[in-house]
Amino acid sequence: MKIFLDTANLSEIKNALDDGLISGLTTNPTLVAKEGKDYQETVDSILNITNIPTSIEVVSDNFEQMVEESIKYAALSPQVVIKIPCSRDGLKLVRVLSKKEIKTNVTLVYTANQAFLSGIAGATYISPFINRLKQISTDGINNIEKISSVFAKHSVDTKILAASIRDSYQVTEAFLAGADIVTLPYSIYTELLSHPLTETGITTFREDYEKVVGVEG
Ligand code: G3P
Repeated sequence: MKIFLDTANLSEIKNALDDGLISGLTTNPTLVAKEGKDYQETVDSILNITNIPTSIEVVSDNFEQMVEESIKYAALSPQVVIKIPCSRDGLKLVRVLSKKEIKTNVTLVYTANQAFLSGIAGATYISPFINRLKQISTDGINNIEKISSVFAKHSVDTKILAASIRDSYQVTEAFLAGADIVTLPYSIYTELLSHPLTETGITTFREDYEKVVGVEG
């Protein structure tokens, strides 16, 4: 069971790495663009500070360029995982990269069947999206249950990386359904770390301790 961070923000990455609870990083072109800097410069800065598997997404729209772009990213660091949209060319690319032992993450997975094909292609990770399905009144958690059960039955090594998480309960649900990894925006990651009753409990315990110490002293 692992948690990845879903961001391209350097401060968020540094803070989370410092906690030692994050085992990987996922990015996408939208997250990189949100940083408002040069695309390649942002990717390079991220790779400079991470020593954990880091998914960088290919954006080319023809197969040959996708291969070229993937090989360029993979050469940047041994931690690079090539994030590939689930499409016919995308899965062809997974096969090519898996023969070269380059790690892959098939993204924008919305059905169990897309996940099965990605597993057959040899993907290292598949990213089934949860919240984007919820927004169209569809249960993405149910997909994870199906994928997890079929992968276990057929001993598929591909890891289930639940993505598009927008609230902390979706984290619990994804793990319960059999996700190996959940990738989280920084806000949800920090939300997981705390609860208002934990905060008030810490304050009360400290106050009570100080009363006793005060009495003894
Ligand atoms: O990076 C993939 C995914 O987690 C992004 O999904 O719905 O949060 O934009 P979303």
